[in-house]
Amino acid sequence: MVRIKKVSVLGSGVMGHGIAQISAMAGYHVTIRDIDQAFLDKAMDKIKWSLSKMVEKGKIASSDMQSILSRITTTVSLKDAVVDADLIIEAIPEDMRLKKDTFSELDRLADPRTIFASNTSTLPITEIATATSREDRFIGIHFFNPPQLMQLVEVIPGAKTSKDTVSIALEYVKSLSKEPILCRKDVAGFIVNRIFIPLVHEAAWEMLEDKASMRAIDAAFKFKLGFPMGIFELADYTGLDVIYKASKEMLARDSKVLNPCPLIEDLYSKGFYGQKTGKGVL
Ligand code: CAA
Repeated sequence: MVRIKKVSVLGSGVMGHGIAQISAMAGYHVTIRDIDQAFLDKAMDKIKWSLSKMVEKGKIASSDMQSILSRITTTVSLKDAVVDADLIIEAIPEDMRLKKDTFSELDRLADPRTIFASNTSTLPITEIATATSREDRFIGIHFFNPPQLMQLVEVIPGAKTSKDTVSIALEYVKSLSKEPILCRKDVAGFIVNRIFIPLVHEAAWEMLEDKASMRAIDAAFKFKLGFPMGIFELADYTGLDVIYKASKEMLARDSKVLNPCPLIEDLYSKGFYGQKTGKGVL
């Protein structure tokens, strides 16, 4: 079985930089790859901010910060990113064509033993894997935002993923001090979004049709159902763009998976994405 020593992360956005950071915190050597050096510089700034916050809260020693940072390198070259990588985790935009093209190129560049993982939240793992000649060494490893604070990670084997690859992915997640859950079927939304995305639509229907106030619904989620945030607060935090696209993808895979509320599409089409644009449901 491959022993993971070096992890490469493709994409330096919210998920990519977080995955890179927690991997370096667990002792792995990490390379982050993005298409523009400016994105990578921004990602490194975010990692430094996050590590400083952890020092401030006593989660890590200040002496650890420098060694964690020294394990992270950045590159704009896909070819350089794959050198010596045991595990490559893709966290690029949620576009099937883009993901397939990237993995097909990676397949030509990376060592045949390298394991490929996608951090997709809704796209079918089995289908992305077909862009490679290593469907047995292809798997979904889905982190949640912010990866630095969220304990749960979904591990999703595709139809041809080998048992060894599943074991390696589970061990890797545990080595990050995270809790893996195995998604036994590569279904729309996997385990978490299969519940979370329909809930957002149901809450929106409740507001639109049943005249419940946004405040009342959020209070119910937070103070009765025990969510860390109200459902609309969480939707704004996650991004209405992410929720809208995930909904469309899930519906394309299974038309009965959710009852789409027009409010979500309305907010998306107005560019009200939530925290990232300053306006969302709230
Ligand atoms: N690194 C380090 N520290 C961070 C951080 C990061 N990346 N992000 C925030 N923090 C800090 C904050 O600045 C804050 O510090 P201060 O107290 O100094 O201000 C601290 O962490 C958070 O402290 P809180 O006590 O407020 O934290 P909390 O107990 O409320 O937990 C939370 C915060 C973990 C985000 C919690 O609110 C939570 O679990 N929310 C739900 C998040 C969730 O469900 N995410 C999944 C979204 S769906 C998704 O990811 C994509 C998808 O598949 C569609």
